[in-house]
Amino acid sequence: MRVKVLVVGSGGREHALVRALLRDPSVTEVVCAPGNAGIAAETPVHGELDVTDPTAVADLADALDSDLVVVGPEVPLVAGAADELRRRGRRCFGPSAEAARLEGSKTFAKEVMRAAGVPTAESVSTTAADTAAAALDRFGPTYVVKDDGLAAGKGVVVTDDRAEAIAHVHACLAKPHGAVVIEEFLDGPEVSLFLISDGVRVLPLQPAQDFKRARDGDAGPNTGGMGAYTPLPWAPPDLVEEVVRTVAQPTIDEMARRGTPFNGLLYAGLALTSRGLRVVEFNVRFGDPETQAVLELLETPLGAVLAAAADGDLSEFDSLQWRSGASVVVVLAAPGYPASPTTGAEIGGLDEAAGVLGAVVLHAGTADSAATGEHRVVSSGGRVLGVVGAGADLTAARDVAYDALNRIHLDGGHYRTDIAATAADLEAAGS
Ligand code: AMP
Ligand code: GLY
Repeated sequence: MRVKVLVVGSGGREHALVRALLRDPSVTEVVCAPGNAGIAAETPVHGELDVTDPTAVADLADALDSDLVVVGPEVPLVAGAADELRRRGRRCFGPSAEAARLEGSKTFAKEVMRAAGVPTAESVSTTAADTAAAALDRFGPTYVVKDDGLAAGKGVVVTDDRAEAIAHVHACLAKPHGAVVIEEFLDGPEVSLFLISDGVRVLPLQPAQDFKRARDGDAGPNTGGMGAYTPLPWAPPDLVEEVVRTVAQPTIDEMARRGTPFNGLLYAGLALTSRGLRVVEFNVRFGDPETQAVLELLETPLGAVLAAAADGDLSEFDSLQWRSGASVVVVLAAPGYPASPTTGAEIGGLDEAAGVLGAVVLHAGTADSAATGEHRVVSSGGRVLGVVGAGADLTAARDVAYDALNRIHLDGGHYRTDIAATAADLEAAGS
């Protein structure tokens, strides 16, 4: 059978997806659009694609005669790319625009969770500043204020400073159709669990943890994610089973009951609080950078699973197979990230880094600059690279990732030095 896959997106997540799909013997060809310099070195790319335009996405899939389209980012999904692809008879892994509202509107996600009995933070959704202020005072500090809509990771403010919370309320409400969600603060460690769904069943991946703050020790502003690792040696052994039973399956059931089945990747962002597990957020696509760590250990051929989910029948997959050991990804960010990243700087040492045994250099914001006549890889986004290390345990995986990262040069680039450090120590102490 011929399976030609189109991956839509241009980040580290898409580079990891492309690599995992290329490993699948049932996949005959992988094309990525728009891609980046690292993806282009491995597979054909269509750099001109506007991913926000569902017609353009579907036109490209038609032109390529793709058998499966895997949509990486949330923006095309919320815009209806999956609907347009399915309308044209193209197989697509990714939810409809209606189902993508689980990420596109925090108010909608809360409504679904309430209807499905899924544990989440208590919240108030409103378009009125005084209602928001009253909710802040009812919940008390620490204040959690969320933009209702998509905000590329910048929509959430968690603060003890009431004035800052109020300022974010006003910023959210100032947007066209602005709405804001005020939540109770959730304590406890966070977990990202990805679940593949065919609209009816769910198939969990291995849980991961993401590091959202820019600097070591969880200091600095929130980012899209500065690193991640899997598995979680400290997590309760029944965590995945509990999330499937109390969060994922009820949500999938509720979406089906509403006539808007969720077919794609459900990303459950969870907090393991002192009062039990709570959903922090849902996303409707693979997480970035957790995917880079998680897919490194996946043994089950990815294309076959995603195609089965897209076809609405995951029944042949009871579970996914994983390599033993651990995987860690550390993100190299551009100077000024996240507030105002500077791009266009040459990246050195990529070959040396890729030569480290067990390391994989995944590109995120990179471009090939042929300006001087020779191909050079330059930075083109805030998160520039994700360096993955795999090893027998987290300590070994960390050593590999940082060994490789230390061989890369980007003027002013920054990365966290403590990705998976505490978990590696816990694991070492327990073994
Ligand atoms: P979100 O965009 O909803 O994932 O929020 C981004 C980050 O803000 C999360 O990963 C958490 O670290 C933090 N956060 C969001 N909601 C809460 C909450 N209710 N309590 C504590 N932290 C939160
Ligand atoms: N790693 C966080 C996200 O993908 O939203």
